[in-house]
Amino acid sequence: MNKSRESTPLRAPSSSATGTVALRWHGSSLELLDQRLLPAEEHWITLESASGVAQSIQDMVVRGAPAIGISAAYGVALAARRAEREDWQAEIKLAIRDLSASRPTAVNLFWALQRMERVFDGCNSLSQAQKRLADEAVAIHEEDLAANLAMADHALEAMGLSAGAGTPDPISVLTHCNTGALATGGYGTALGVIRRLHEKKLLERVFADETRPWLQGSRLTAWELMRDGIPVTLNADGAAAAILAAGEVRWIIVGADRITANGDVANKIGTYSLAVLARFHKVGFMVVAPSSTVDMALASGSDIPIEQRDGREIREIRGIPLAPAGVQVFNPVFDVTPANLIDVIITEKGAVRNPGINGMRDLFG
Ligand code: MRU
Repeated sequence: MNKSRESTPLRAPSSSATGTVALRWHGSSLELLDQRLLPAEEHWITLESASGVAQSIQDMVVRGAPAIGISAAYGVALAARRAEREDWQAEIKLAIRDLSASRPTAVNLFWALQRMERVFDGCNSLSQAQKRLADEAVAIHEEDLAANLAMADHALEAMGLSAGAGTPDPISVLTHCNTGALATGGYGTALGVIRRLHEKKLLERVFADETRPWLQGSRLTAWELMRDGIPVTLNADGAAAAILAAGEVRWIIVGADRITANGDVANKIGTYSLAVLARFHKVGFMVVAPSSTVDMALASGSDIPIEQRDGREIREIRGIPLAPAGVQVFNPVFDVTPANLIDVIITEKGAVRNPGINGMRDLFG
């Protein structure tokens, strides 16, 4: 990972519509905010190769489905920039292959790489590929930010809180994992909806699950929300049931890593149990994700590859043991929430209420 970089003009979104950004594109390099070190340290890593980007996705320097896809697209653009004139096509293909092996569950990665591959297939020279692939990566980044802003509008409408709904009382919501500017091209999916509620003075409080084992909720979501002055209460994942039982929360709002043709949703481990709790306590359950997260090629959630990560993520924290050495660990980092537990899926194309095959087909073909 190279620390030096040329300062070329930015064409990618330079702001995320919030104070937080996860990635910065400089034309010849990609900078990633190292999310492994937050909230203690804000350290940026500069990458000039696709292999560096692939490694950073695998190691979770950058994470969150849309941010992974955007980073991978920039990785392909970097591969084109570094390619040798004679072997440029083979080098770019190899980069796409390496990037696609970085993480298995979020379909945004494969969606972005397929989009880059289509552009690459239409290029006749290295210089053309360099320009077109960089432009496409920036477009993917910009479109994701725009999708987040559109989803916030659709979500408020689905909650009956859009303009014209009188002056409703502020509500409290609960969220899981991190789905904010750190996980996307900016603003956020579920956290974008929460941001919009706050902007419209419709938010009383966000309860943020800490999200064991990687602690996206405590390390990232709480940090991101506090930076923007959004009222957040951090809770252990196991406290969610008590919070719902106390009648504190109107909606649970989460993101997604892959949504299948029948409306099943893969998201951070623990999401499924929240959906069960929401149904039991008659609390709304909303999934917010751009259409790049929808995988109509998979019939149902049981077809989604679920990433299993190293047991050390559960056995220890930053090298400090939390469990007996050598204990066997089960560490799937995503689970699948069945469509029938979801009240509404929001994408930039609109809402699918009570998702199922027909509703999904109507919106996504
Ligand atoms: O393992 P992560 O941190 O990449 O998982 C992230 C999530 O599960 C998010 O909820 C999901 O990607 C939606 S992000 C807008």
